[in-house]
Amino acid sequence: MRPIAEAIEGSNAKRGLWSSRFAFILAATGSAVGLGNIWKFPYITGENGGGAFVLVYLLCIAAIGLPIMMAEVLIGRRGGRSPVNSLKAIAGHDRLNPAWRMVGAVGVIAGFLILSFYSVIGGWAVSYVGTAASGQLTGQSADAIGAIFSNLLADPVTLLMWHTLFMALVMLCGGKRGSRGDLSARSPFLMPALFLLLLTVVGYAMTTGEFGRAVTFLFQPDFTKLTTSGVLVALGHAFFTLSLGMAVMMAYGSYLPKGISIAKTSIAVCVIDTAVALLAGLAIFPIVFANGLEPGAGPGLIFQTLPLAFGQMPMGSLFGTLFFVLLVFAAWTSGISLLEPIVEWLEEQKSMNRTRSTLAAGFVCWLLGIASILSLNLWSDFAPLGWIGMLEGKTVFDLLDFFTANILLPLGGLLVAVFAGWVMSREAIEKELALSKPMFRLWYITVRYITPVAVGAVFIYNLFGS
Ligand code: TRP
Repeated sequence: MRPIAEAIEGSNAKRGLWSSRFAFILAATGSAVGLGNIWKFPYITGENGGGAFVLVYLLCIAAIGLPIMMAEVLIGRRGGRSPVNSLKAIAGHDRLNPAWRMVGAVGVIAGFLILSFYSVIGGWAVSYVGTAASGQLTGQSADAIGAIFSNLLADPVTLLMWHTLFMALVMLCGGKRGSRGDLSARSPFLMPALFLLLLTVVGYAMTTGEFGRAVTFLFQPDFTKLTTSGVLVALGHAFFTLSLGMAVMMAYGSYLPKGISIAKTSIAVCVIDTAVALLAGLAIFPIVFANGLEPGAGPGLIFQTLPLAFGQMPMGSLFGTLFFVLLVFAAWTSGISLLEPIVEWLEEQKSMNRTRSTLAAGFVCWLLGIASILSLNLWSDFAPLGWIGMLEGKTVFDLLDFFTANILLPLGGLLVAVFAGWVMSREAIEKELALSKPMFRLWYITVRYITPVAVGAVFIYNLFGS
């Protein structure tokens, strides 16, 4: 299922294209589906009170995420080059306006920052493969499961070991040319297997007796629980979970053959990604309620709930091991797509070869990751920007997450929307998207007006609102 090299004229000639729409969807979901869906979505939903937050998140996916994904893929396919060169080619200038150069810069900076903490969480997932396989979870109480997790967090050396291992895995694949999510493209069974295992846990969760309460929590909006910052988190997460705002989908789009529908493929990616997140929520919250756990427990939520389910269900050690293995794969393919923009940038700027660029990029992410590890133990009370109201009590790890997902990615997405809506020629876009008239108009109005206004408004409210 590797992208096959097709001799076509123009800029795509040497790049090789995806062999089919299916291959593109596999690669794009390989990037999109990751820790964001299974680790982050449930815990931020718990922290932000459930239903109303989920509704805003779904709205952000449909009304902002999907149109921006289409814009990224469109720019990539139209330009047929690396993201920044595509923007240059489309804008028709050799020296790109600084505003558009920022799209590339956001990609590189966000890549460094996100991968640094992403790898630490990926390390947690790796460590739980062993925990589940060794049968330690079987029959344990919620307290014992909680203790396994807090012991892991309290130990910087162990965390560093797993973080190092995860980063090494990412670099191993990132070092190969044209890696763009190849792993998932070559192993098309990974995603369906993860889906099936999630369904298994949902099936188990239904037997806990609290399934109804979880469904109410997730899908019955209570707007009194939604805060201004909750809206920002929902918006930011829509970008994070769909891998938007970093020009990653733009890079993927440059390999998409002409004639394949950008709208249909983007919708498929959004639907799969959202389905995985919602399933994760349905798997986790019944366990939360059945065991009297705290929905707002924070980043450890899945590691304090899923192991309980695996400890209680028949053949739980087997299912648990498989689940964490697949979670590692999902995080791995996403991690590769986070490293890619940095590696490409280093290759272009410093004329380093691919191996060196990968080593350099990976090393910096690894080093930065140590700050996130320390935030979990030695620096857990250290809130460097705590004097800013909104950032009160946020550790280095929290800050990295907040700044990238809630600020950098929406900013990158905003730039993409403005570029597609205001810089590109309307005719070119119409041809490229090949939508019906009313659908095109809807999309165009969204990227031209709705997205910039919505993202701007959420930013302004959070800065100046209470
Ligand atoms: N979408 C991935 C997740 O949900 C994370 C990710 C991978 C990402 N590549 C990205 C986020 C690029 C933003 C941009 O886990």
